[in-house]
Order: sequence, then structure tokens, then C-alpha cells
Amino acid sequence: MLTFENVCKSFENGAATASRMVLNNVSFTLKPGLSAAIVGPSGVGKSTLLNLASALLKPDAGKICFEGKDIFSFSEHELNNYRNRSIGIVFQQHLLFPQLTLLDNVLLPVLAQQKITQVHRNRAIELIDLVGLSLVINNYPTTLSGGECQRAALARAVINNPKLILADEPTGALDEMNAGIVSNLLLEVQRTDGAALLVVTHNQQLAAKMSRQLVLSHGCIK
Ligand SMILES: Nc1ncnc2c1ncn2[C@@H]1O[C@H](COP(=O)(O)OP(=O)(O)OP(=O)(O)O)[C@@H](O)[C@H]1O
Ligand SMILES: [Mg+2]
Repeated sequence: MLTFENVCKSFENGAATASRMVLNNVSFTLKPGLSAAIVGPSGVGKSTLLNLASALLKPDAGKICFEGKDIFSFSEHELNNYRNRSIGIVFQQHLLFPQLTLLDNVLLPVLAQQKITQVHRNRAIELIDLVGLSLVINNYPTTLSGGECQRAALARAVINNPKLILADEPTGALDEMNAGIVSNLLLEVQRTDGAALLVVTHNQQLAAKMSRQLVLSHGCIK
């Protein structure tokens, strides 16, 4: 489903001349329908790895394949399909649009692809119910708590039934109870939809719920 083959990524070091190698020959495979966690401390490169998997960043070397195809060889159309349909992303910051209601935020990835129909609305309403936010469906994000925004972001990530869910520290801003709710929901949605799930986190409790745990350390996966 998703394969990293000897992926390297460096960043320029501000004023310093040498660039910093964040990922150094990272290789792993995530199989369809399975879940995995990549764990590592702050700054180790977890968000970088997910941004590469989402094709938001390009690797310096190596290959990232989705269903056997290099995502950086996709045509513009294929890339749009990949980003909007094949994958669903839960960002480290939930990135809800403050000027849209919760319902419209959840429907946004549909709008990026096509006209919104009643079928889409019903799915959004169903997902919002699943994440326990029916009572605030027409509220704006500024009136929601951090935990509620995270749950809304989860609903938005799966609205298009993605084959692969990428979640960056999805419980980062949450207390233990809300973290438990969000991680269980993530797994429930993953199992219901038969999607693959890749979570990057420093939270060991969240990682332990995934079927595989990989450690990102000094640029490499162990
Ligand atoms: N666009 C960028 N330009 C320069 N350096 C960057 C850029 N993005 C990330 N970095 C650096 O790469 C390293 C890894 O960053 P990344 O955000 O992937 O870490 P992380 O593991 O997600 O950390 P956290 O757990 O705090 O979210 C950090 O040292 C960061 O400063
Ligand atoms: Mg991060």
C-alpha cells in the first residue's frame, strides 16, 4: 500500500552552511488494512515523514510508492486524486477553517473533488455523529474545545473513504480521556472502512494500540 524505500530528506540550517539530514535512508512498508505507529521524540522527523507520504514535501533521494506507484511520478490529476481521495490526513494542528461550520469543514475534502450531494451530507452527518459532535454540527471551530476540533478533523480526514489514513500526533493536544476517545475512533473508522492507518506520535499509549510499532531514531527506522 505505502512503501518508503531509502528515503532521505535534509533541510537547510538557516544561516549555517551545512544542511541537516532529518531522514536518512528510511524504509518501511505499510500493508492494506493494517495499522502502524512510528514513534520518536520531538524534532526527530515524524511530521516530515508524513508530509513526504502526503506528497506535500519531496524527498532528496529514495522512493515513496502508493499501491506500487511512485507518488512523485503521478500526473497532476493522479496527484489530486491521491491527496483528495486515496489518503486522509489528520494534521498535527487540526487546521479547521474558522469561517466554516463544523459540517462544512468536514465536507471540505468532498468539495475539492466534486459537487456536494445529499449522499455526502448524510455521510458527513453520520461521521460527525460517530465522533460525538452531533449537537455542535452547525457551530464554528472557535466555539469548540481542542478535543472537539481534533474529533472534527478526524471526521474530515475520512469523509472520502480514504484507503490510507495518515495521522500526525492526532491526540497531541488532548487530555488522557479525549486522547483515548480519539485514538479509539481512529481505529474504529479504520476498521469499519478497511483502510490502512499510519500514525506518527511520541505517545506510547497511542502507539501501542496500532498493530505495528516502528521507532524513528537519528534519521532511521528501526
Ligand atoms: N521546512 C523546514 N525547514 C527547515 N527545517 C525544518 C523544516 N521542517 C522541519 N524542519 C526540521 O526538521 C526536524 C524534524 O521536524 P519535524 O517537524 O518532522 O519533527 P517531529 O518529529 O514531527 O517533531 P514534533 O514531535 O515536535 O512534532 C526539526 O529539527 C525541524 O526543525
Ligand atoms: Mg510533528
